[in-house]
Amino acid sequence: MKIQPAERVRQIPPYLFAEIDRKKRELRERGMDLIDLGIGDPDIPTPRRIIARLMEAARDAENHRYPAYEGMLDFRQAVADWYKKRFQVSLDPRTEVLTLIGSKEGIAHIPLAFVDPGDYVLVPSPGYPVYRVSTIFAGGIPHFMDLKKENQFLPDLSAIPPQVAEKAKLMFINYPNNPTAAVAERPFFEEVVAFAKRHGIIVCHDAAYSEIAFDGYRPMSLMEVDGAKDVGIEFHSLSKTFNMTGWRIGFAVGNPEIVGGLGRIKTNIDSGAFQAIQLAGIEALNGYGTETEEIIGIYTARRNLLVKGLHAAGLEVESPKATFYLWVTVPNKYTSAEFAALLMEQLGIVGTPGIGFGDAGEGYIRFALTVGEDRLREAEDRLKELKI
Ligand SMILES: Cc1ncc(COP(=O)(O)O)c(C=O)c1O
Repeated sequence: MKIQPAERVRQIPPYLFAEIDRKKRELRERGMDLIDLGIGDPDIPTPRRIIARLMEAARDAENHRYPAYEGMLDFRQAVADWYKKRFQVSLDPRTEVLTLIGSKEGIAHIPLAFVDPGDYVLVPSPGYPVYRVSTIFAGGIPHFMDLKKENQFLPDLSAIPPQVAEKAKLMFINYPNNPTAAVAERPFFEEVVAFAKRHGIIVCHDAAYSEIAFDGYRPMSLMEVDGAKDVGIEFHSLSKTFNMTGWRIGFAVGNPEIVGGLGRIKTNIDSGAFQAIQLAGIEALNGYGTETEEIIGIYTARRNLLVKGLHAAGLEVESPKATFYLWVTVPNKYTSAEFAALLMEQLGIVGTPGIGFGDAGEGYIRFALTVGEDRLREAEDRLKELKI
């Protein structure tokens, strides 16, 4: 029998990192000591207080059964309390908050709730690849909004053709941004809300990096803007804030109909997040601030080290205000894939070519600050030998 994948799977763009993965394997086999700055997965462990709460909760048989689909009310209340404290935004935990099995899960499912075949979805390029794939899975058509340096890596809403805006159902935005490390301020969010109202578009703001910010900078929530709750949903993650990527816990907040629509899809697909993890999540959120300074201190030192090393090597990069990524300009004569290969072969430094995040990512390479200072010092040393 010939096993034929579904059309929606065949539509997924080819895996652009396959060549990088092959090269990594080959160089490792040759004994090369690779410094892998390719993956945005924190190396810092989850705080002990959160682990202790999980261990206690995991022993309790009450938590071994199916959880509530929409999440424990106590977890959703902890989210509402955190939002009030962090953004001065009030949320009804019963209707405006939904527990997610990681924010990726919510982002991947939301088009199924609102996008019909043939609808447009406005997707940033470069961007987190899930926006594009989840659009395709729902039968939608991604319309890419290019994030350009001259626009501070914010989408130019006036460049969206009117016929696309009219047929668009959803818009994804993400600030602080992966991969460009750009941030957005109130006027941009206000413009997005006005645009969405004008065209009847649901705004999905991915705020996964809202707590990874430097030098006293505090990213804002879309929900702080007047009218955002009429059109928007915001995705958050405990992954980066509390170093919990492997735990799979996040949440969505916002307009009750949008949150409820996503909840309906989830009810029919998954059975909620493990209660013991939600209880550990409550501990994480209620104790917010306990480790933030330490975590930000670690990333700040790493950011400063690598930015210095890249500048010394003659490469162009801005020191970011937020996220744990550096978005580095590729020297003119190379494509991002060629430059990534060169860095690996010459120096054993692994970065992610910008083209992997969409066509408008060409010309850049992304480095993640998810390795220790000793390895970044080594990277700084190796960068002195760069020949371009
Ligand atoms: C922009 C962005 N959004 C969402 C996620 C997903 O995070 P999680 O599913 O761990 O909450 C990531 C993970 O790398 C990301 O970079």
